[in-house]
Amino acid sequence: MRRGTGIIVAGALFTGTVLAQRQDGIVQWGIQRRQPPSEGYNRLRRRASTFEETITNEEARGGYFATCTLGTPGQDLTLQLDTGSSDIWVPDSVAKVCSKAGTEGCALGTFNPDRSSTFEVVGQGEFDINYVDGSSSKGDYFTDVFQIGGATLSNMTMGLGVNTDIAYGLVGVGYALNEAIVGTTQSTSSVYPNLPVNMVNEKLINTVAYSLWLNDLDSSSGNILFGGIDTQKYKGDLTRIDILPTTQGLYTSFAVAMTSLIAVSPSGQDTLTSNAFPMPVVLDSGTTLSYLPTDLAVQIWKEVGALYSPEFELAVLPCDMQNSKGYFSFGFGGPKGPQINVSMDELVLDLTSGQAPVFNSGPYKGMDACEFGIQNFTSAPYLLGDTFLRSAYVVYDLVNNQVGLAATDFNSTESNVVPFPSLSAHIPSATIAPDQSQATVRPSVTSPAYAASAGFTDSAGVNGSENAAAGLPPAFGAAQLAVMGLSMMFAMLGSGILLL
Ligand SMILES: *[C@@H]1O[C@H](CO)[C@@H](O)[C@H](O)[C@H]1NC(C)=O
Ligand SMILES: *[C@@H]1O[C@H](CO)[C@@H](O)[C@H](O)[C@H]1NC(C)=O
Ligand SMILES: *[C@@H]1O[C@H](CO)[C@@H](O)[C@H](O)[C@H]1NC(C)=O
Ligand SMILES: *[C@@H]1O[C@H](CO)[C@@H](O)[C@H](O)[C@H]1NC(C)=O
Ligand SMILES: *[C@@H]1O[C@H](CO)[C@@H](O)[C@H](O)[C@H]1NC(C)=O
Repeated sequence: MRRGTGIIVAGALFTGTVLAQRQDGIVQWGIQRRQPPSEGYNRLRRRASTFEETITNEEARGGYFATCTLGTPGQDLTLQLDTGSSDIWVPDSVAKVCSKAGTEGCALGTFNPDRSSTFEVVGQGEFDINYVDGSSSKGDYFTDVFQIGGATLSNMTMGLGVNTDIAYGLVGVGYALNEAIVGTTQSTSSVYPNLPVNMVNEKLINTVAYSLWLNDLDSSSGNILFGGIDTQKYKGDLTRIDILPTTQGLYTSFAVAMTSLIAVSPSGQDTLTSNAFPMPVVLDSGTTLSYLPTDLAVQIWKEVGALYSPEFELAVLPCDMQNSKGYFSFGFGGPKGPQINVSMDELVLDLTSGQAPVFNSGPYKGMDACEFGIQNFTSAPYLLGDTFLRSAYVVYDLVNNQVGLAATDFNSTESNVVPFPSLSAHIPSATIAPDQSQATVRPSVTSPAYAASAGFTDSAGVNGSENAAAGLPPAFGAAQLAVMGLSMMFAMLGSGILLL
């Protein structure tokens, strides 16, 4: 869905030096280990059933990127992985945004169709995508060879971004019904097989499903596994919950029912409530931060002592809060559904790539300011972006319309890949949440006692005695204003919500 822009530097988006490394992440299918018979026979009839691609955490751009190859001969491009959109598109080498020098231009690669012998235009001028942050890309739909994670799609439909303000392309892996062409034509008959569907059509994987392991905020990479799950990348049970359809009964986004939120710290715990519970939240890897309704976000901010700056339209807090021992427990799919605990070290993000802005008045005077990973938004759908997703192992099953959720195993170096055995098979090793029928119950709304509040700040060594109550807007040094002004601009761009 693409929301949030990562670290902001005065004047330009920092592009950094962390280009994704090419990695031929083909898992030599877990199926082998589980089906020991005759080697020779196995080799002949064996077919790839899972493909794994390493995705690089580019904090500066606020997203996860995969290196892909397009065309004949192959041209390498690094593209952002996005569960919130459904088209692959690449910047055309003649796109204006790519003519800028260095890191401001298309440093992650562009596509030159003239240099590909297999390139074919299939929809002239029909590619037109608009993301929720107000950015867009327009041009032609085309088909060409596309490679990701060792998988080759010989006839992949993609968008060519000729007019775009985004300096890198995207790999949208959402529901095909959410393809930009469906919005343009207002007709579901224009749906084409997008990446996960095409992988099934080409018999590369068995069903339209993949697993996402983003790993730690401090870690440089995670991975996406098409066609399977990796049982070594999560802890505890993997639990299936239903994806919510639109009011027309269609599946277009990874919306699930968030049914509870508990704040826990050494000083106690609080059940937080909201008029929006049970609330649909979209699990969106293309969004950097998470966005919850204001009544809930305000309670979360009060727990951690985050301050909302009306001027900059952002909740901020002292960077030291990343040492807090507190965490938030997100519940899904009813009272006995999966819970994902997100600790404070995953929720405190740098505002800039250089020297952090400093609070120059108020309760945090003199302390470095960071961006809080949970912001507020006015209306559904609310979004759980990377600040939430890193703490979860998420399996997306687009055939049964279910999501599997488990606590992530941070920094796991082990692997045990289990492919989906067939089309429409359920998520392997996962059990269904037992009481999803109760996921529609609206709990009563109460004011929390904030028993956890002191523990959040004290355990981080931050003097939070007054700030939460005072709710003073933060003030920054004059030198930092340029930086903040820019982030304000992005925050404002972000409020022009435009759903695909
Ligand atoms: C390639 O894909 C397009 C769009 O899905 C389809 O119309 C076309 O027939 C395919 N071409 C081949 C050679 O399979
Ligand atoms: C994971 O690894 C990163 C460094 O690569 C480290 O900073 C982080 O603390 C580790 N996370 C956990 C939970 O061990
Ligand atoms: C998450 O937090 C809840 C509430 O404190 C706790 O009961 C549960 O055991 C935690 N889960 C994990 C996987 O740590
Ligand atoms: C976020 O919360 C603040 C403080 O309550 C409020 O002023 C602002 O309008 C909210 N923003 C959105 C997008 O709802
Ligand atoms: C915390 O802040 C309050 C009010 O600013 C002050 O009175 C108190 O001494 C501070 N405590 C510590 C431990 O710094």
